[in-house]
Amino acid sequence: MADTKCKLIVIDGLDGSGKATQTKLLCERLCAEGFQARTLSFPDYESDGSAAVRMYLGGQLGESPNDVNAYAASSFYAVDRVVSYLNSWGKDYRNYDYIIADRYVTSNIIHQMAKLKASERDDYIEWLYDYEYRRLMIPEPDLVIFLDVDPAISQQLMRGRYHGDDSKKDIHEGNVAYLKSCRKSAAYAIERLGWTVVKCDDGEKMRSIEEISDELYSIIKH
Ligand SMILES: Nc1ncnc2c1ncn2[C@@H]1O[C@H](COP(=O)(O)OP(=O)(O)OP(=O)(O)O)[C@@H](O)[C@H]1O
Ligand SMILES: [Mg+2]
Repeated sequence: MADTKCKLIVIDGLDGSGKATQTKLLCERLCAEGFQARTLSFPDYESDGSAAVRMYLGGQLGESPNDVNAYAASSFYAVDRVVSYLNSWGKDYRNYDYIIADRYVTSNIIHQMAKLKASERDDYIEWLYDYEYRRLMIPEPDLVIFLDVDPAISQQLMRGRYHGDDSKKDIHEGNVAYLKSCRKSAAYAIERLGWTVVKCDDGEKMRSIEEISDELYSIIKH
């Protein structure tokens, strides 16, 4: 796996930070330049591999994210990824130039590590890396880009998406206290794991989609 030429680039961030938008644009730009590139998006809601994730996010296992512990929920998402790897993109990873993923193992770190005490974070990261990259053998990313958005601004974007109807949010999106702890766990991961941060707002509003896309492009071409 280590000798593949394919670059796996992960775009992560908190909810509503522009991951899907930027993943698509980056892939389109690379394809226009003649590279063989594709996107991935996790969870893969269309797949049976995400069944447990859908139960969890839909509140069937408890109304609070904390009703399912970090390790149990992380394994739901890990199953979704390895099923998709085996079923869909494993072969592409051996042939393509770029795969751009909207969320990945990194999302477990942001959203599940948030359930643990600060003193438990390093153990969790060690366990997760061992489980997903070494035991399940899905590839490690070449680059992780974290889209950083002020939470007040991303909440506005989310409201736009659901047209003000909060009942459409999943159990993560609807829990503000939980989202705050996710921000802290992301800040820890950025430092500890060396993720590349792209600031997506100017303190008052979002930067333009094109401006952010240009910055992402220059990072991956660097
Ligand atoms: N720079 C931007 N400026 C203004 N609006 C944006 C910007 N980037 C994305 N959006 C809009 O914000 C919303 C959320 O974007 P997107 O779906 O790409 O985010 P996401 O991180 O994938 O969200 P989620 O975490 O919910 O999957 C969309 O309506 C999108 O069009
Ligand atoms: Mg998205």
